[in-house]
Amino acid sequence: MTVISAIRGARDLLPGDLPRWRRAERAAERCFALYGYGEIRTPVLERAELFARQLGEHTELVEKQMYLFADGDGGDTLALRPEATVPTVRAALQSGMHRNLPARLWYRGAMFRRERPQRGRYRQFWQIGAEILGAQSPSADAEQILLTARLWRELGVDGRLRLAVNNLGDGEERARHREKLREHFRANAAEMGEDAARAETNPLRLLESRDAKTAAVARDAPKLSDELGDASRKHSDAVCESLTRAGVAFSQDETLVRGLDYYNLTVFEWSLAGDDRRQNALCGGGRYDGLSQQIGGPPMPGCGFALGLDRLVDLLAEPPRETPDCFLTLTEECAREFAGELAEHCRDAGLTVWRHIGGGNLARQLKKADAAGAKTALIIGSREAAARRVTIKRMSDGDQREAEFAKAPAQIKAAIAGDGVRDGDGDGGNNNDDSVN
Ligand code: HAM
Repeated sequence: MTVISAIRGARDLLPGDLPRWRRAERAAERCFALYGYGEIRTPVLERAELFARQLGEHTELVEKQMYLFADGDGGDTLALRPEATVPTVRAALQSGMHRNLPARLWYRGAMFRRERPQRGRYRQFWQIGAEILGAQSPSADAEQILLTARLWRELGVDGRLRLAVNNLGDGEERARHREKLREHFRANAAEMGEDAARAETNPLRLLESRDAKTAAVARDAPKLSDELGDASRKHSDAVCESLTRAGVAFSQDETLVRGLDYYNLTVFEWSLAGDDRRQNALCGGGRYDGLSQQIGGPPMPGCGFALGLDRLVDLLAEPPRETPDCFLTLTEECAREFAGELAEHCRDAGLTVWRHIGGGNLARQLKKADAAGAKTALIIGSREAAARRVTIKRMSDGDQREAEFAKAPAQIKAAIAGDGVRDGDGDGGNNNDDSVN
């Protein structure tokens, strides 16, 4: 019989994987607290219509990658969320948050896209992201980029990442540019690759084409920057100035268009330095001033970002493994109840206690304690149980002491701290109980 496996592109994260994940998540939580973001959790399932128009009907994400299904006979079409910006804006509107702006929100959760799986690209993947709603000022865009830069520093990966920013202008500027692009691609259709047909529906995507022929035509395409008016330029100049003042290095990249349609003005991406594959960005975001109105809300500017946790975790070194303060060994079955009682007593005092499971003599159990990296082994047999005492063996040097039940936690802590410990004689005569209270 073969075990039914997980679906392609969905992974199990096992205890050995998760310390790095937790490290990234805790660092992000600390950063969000520094900037005053509150956490939000939205459902994994949403109405499909919430995403289709907002992300862009002609984007790869909506055309090919959404997980959609009918909710029962004749029910709504539902989608597994492919991202969390649109749901966050929906939730803010639905809960009335838009009446008390600005709102700073962050989230962490699984997202779903039917992409071709490979290392760093999954069908269920994890994002941590943040949004500021109700802030038009370029300082909001800059704040978020600085927050991400701080997070990379905290995690020690700042030297490995580079930042690209671009200015997508406003709706009119983009419409003018799109029309010029269409004209350019139409005029050069004969020299383009198979994706030439996209020129009519989404000419912007062709600027990122992986087809060498199309890419060559795209290189001479009209530039959006030529269409930008004063207001758009002022906004992005202010963002760039804040970054420069804060010492955050960046490059201005006119080919950076992002895969989602809701953006205007600032867009940015962090990716691995030396890796040209755009699809491998670690973190991306930007401004989406029209999104609230697109989903039926009042005007509410916003900007945000999301980072791919799966990709970030790949860059992190393994943190030191978690080891217990105490490994509890049991040499005689009759002492089992007392051993359980002592373990709970120690945990009440904040000590981590791993209990040995299974039999074996003391030597074998101490080997396990050593393998677990335990700081102390607690040895309990019938003699200890009868006297309601415990033998504490410090694993680093083998020193032993005994303690009565009530004082055991303090004695264990003293042994771990390395104070007041003498060579134990193991016969109950080495009573250090009074050295620590
Ligand atoms: P996005 O660029 O689609 O933006 O995704 C953000 C990040 O999620 C990417 O940079 C990448 O690290 C990670 N990611 C995306 N797809 C996958 C995948 N299949 N496997 C692993 N990681 C992946 C957004 O989702 C926007 N909502 C960001 C945003 C927030 N914009 C404004 N506010």
